Amino acid sequence: MPVRRRFAPASLELEDISAGRVEPRYAKVLARLMAAHALAEKLTAVGYQQALMTIEGPRLRSTIEKNAAEERRHARMIYAALAEIGISEAQADRLMVSAAKGPSFAAPRGFADRVDDEIDLVMGSISLDATGMLMIGINYRDSSYGPHARAAESILDDEAEHESFGLEALGWIVDRFGPDRVQAALRTWLPRAVNFFGPPGSGFTFDCLTFGLKSRDNQELADLYLAMIERRLEQLGLTRPALTDNYPHEAV
Ligand SMILES: [Fe+2]
Ligand SMILES: [Fe+2]
Repeated sequence: MPVRRRFAPASLELEDISAGRVEPRYAKVLARLMAAHALAEKLTAVGYQQALMTIEGPRLRSTIEKNAAEERRHARMIYAALAEIGISEAQADRLMVSAAKGPSFAAPRGFADRVDDEIDLVMGSISLDATGMLMIGINYRDSSYGPHARAAESILDDEAEHESFGLEALGWIVDRFGPDRVQAALRTWLPRAVNFFGPPGSGFTFDCLTFGLKSRDNQELADLYLAMIERRLEQLGLTRPALTDNYPHEAV
């Protein structure tokens, strides 16, 4: 049954929270959601920064530098929105301590951890930028919390460029490293990317949908992502690895 949304897009502002015009639970759910968003942006920035240590070639490096700077800007914006509701970056990251160790953060964790070559770079991009596009463009842009909706809007153009880069670069790595290596990397990264949307039907997402902080369930976004990635893989003569049905998904 669809969840009834209580607050329209961008219908609440900082004053509504500070003046106590919405229940405290709204601010709690909002803080957790923005903390997850901010940490994902920060880890993505770290991943792009890591890539600069291993990847050569001036053209690729200049794209990586651009993406790293943009991801840092995205993280700063969301941490600033958190600061306005009284949550520091350290407090926000503390809210994420256990989630950050779980399957929904395997993609940003893996990217931030190491980027050994162009395959890792492209896998990170298609797992973080292309997924982020959907979360930001579909869920956060229509957030009932005005500052998050506006931040999402201003991030979106960057993410669209990052996504195009990742999807195009997927073609280059097939040419350069051969389909077998790319196919093997997809077995590791596709489950991470799909799990990044989070578990379907969770209580937390139910609260987000009710408060209008998300518009769609995680599963719907994950399905959109899979359909999009499958089309791209088909164009390149690759097959989408089959995944187990239940969250957290694994390659079969
Ligand atoms: Fe970003
Ligand atoms: Fe990005």
